[in-house]
Amino acid sequence: MGNPNKAKAEKGLMRWVDDRFPATQMWQEHLSKYYAPKNFNFWYFFGSLALLALVNQILTGVWLTMSFNPSAEGAFDSVEYIMRDVEWGWLIRYMHTTGASAFFLVVYLHMFRGLLYGSYKAPRELVWVFGMTIYLVLMAEAFMGYLLPWGQMSYWGAQVIISLFSAIPAIGPDLAQWVRGDFLISGITLNRFFALHVVALPIVILALVVLHIIALHEVGSNNPDGIDIKQKKDEAGVPLDGIPFHPYYTVKDLVGVAVFLFVFCVVVFYFPEGGGYFIERPNFDQANPLQTPDHIAPFGI
Ligand code: HEM
Repeated sequence: MGNPNKAKAEKGLMRWVDDRFPATQMWQEHLSKYYAPKNFNFWYFFGSLALLALVNQILTGVWLTMSFNPSAEGAFDSVEYIMRDVEWGWLIRYMHTTGASAFFLVVYLHMFRGLLYGSYKAPRELVWVFGMTIYLVLMAEAFMGYLLPWGQMSYWGAQVIISLFSAIPAIGPDLAQWVRGDFLISGITLNRFFALHVVALPIVILALVVLHIIALHEVGSNNPDGIDIKQKKDEAGVPLDGIPFHPYYTVKDLVGVAVFLFVFCVVVFYFPEGGGYFIERPNFDQANPLQTPDHIAPFGI
């Protein structure tokens, strides 16, 4: 038995909030009275997992920023400091590095589902366009993050990618210099990549995710059989082939979260470097503008 006085007070508080902000209305519109098709399968886990990956990157990123030093002189050492001296710093960093790879894996599976079921077609074109834009910004975000530890792979990877700009006819070389902010990749480049990586691009990604979900909720989800649940409704206007997102899919998504976290923790705690594939060996050497890492030297040298 609940305490009736407490329930009354909560109702009173909720009414006070609702008179000033549409909290209950939003909860109902997007969760408890948002109807989703009954037949979501395994592929529909990856949207909520992409959200989880995003939250993980933002939280661990904020904590990394507290101890990271965005300068050519200090960046590499500050990462070592995080790994060795900051309490739980190793865990925060490995959650961020593993989280970045996991984010892409999850987003690729999420996009594959869209292709598989034709979810990019009418009426979901804008959901897809916002998704593609998220993907582009996400690649820029990851690329800039990779320069920050200022290791050899960070430096030479950025060298290769920024040089691509210089292949553009006429304006190329000037454009590459403008991106670097210097004649070569330097602390100036590192500093601006830091600003874009921790402030500008995360804001853009968050805004795009909100637009992505608003667009989706306007038209409703697709499903493996392509049934349009808005076709058949009961007298109250409730779709007969739909179920409320909350609690049905919030609970079902938790199964996906549990499996994801299991795999994620195995990597974070046992294979954070992935045998040199997740964190490449040359990135344990500080950036050196005078020496390319061995295995990306031109063939034959
Ligand atoms: C930060 C990255 C992203 C997040 C957090 C995100 C989140 C979500 C969520 C929560 C859903 C609803 C649940 C679901 O259907 O799985 C969804 C649906 C969808 N997303 Fe994303 N998404 C992201 C990136 C993308 C990308 C890169 C694309 C494609 C280029 C995309 C295309 C779609 C499509 C087409 C749907 C509707 C699918 C359907 O109804 O069958 N999303 N997204």
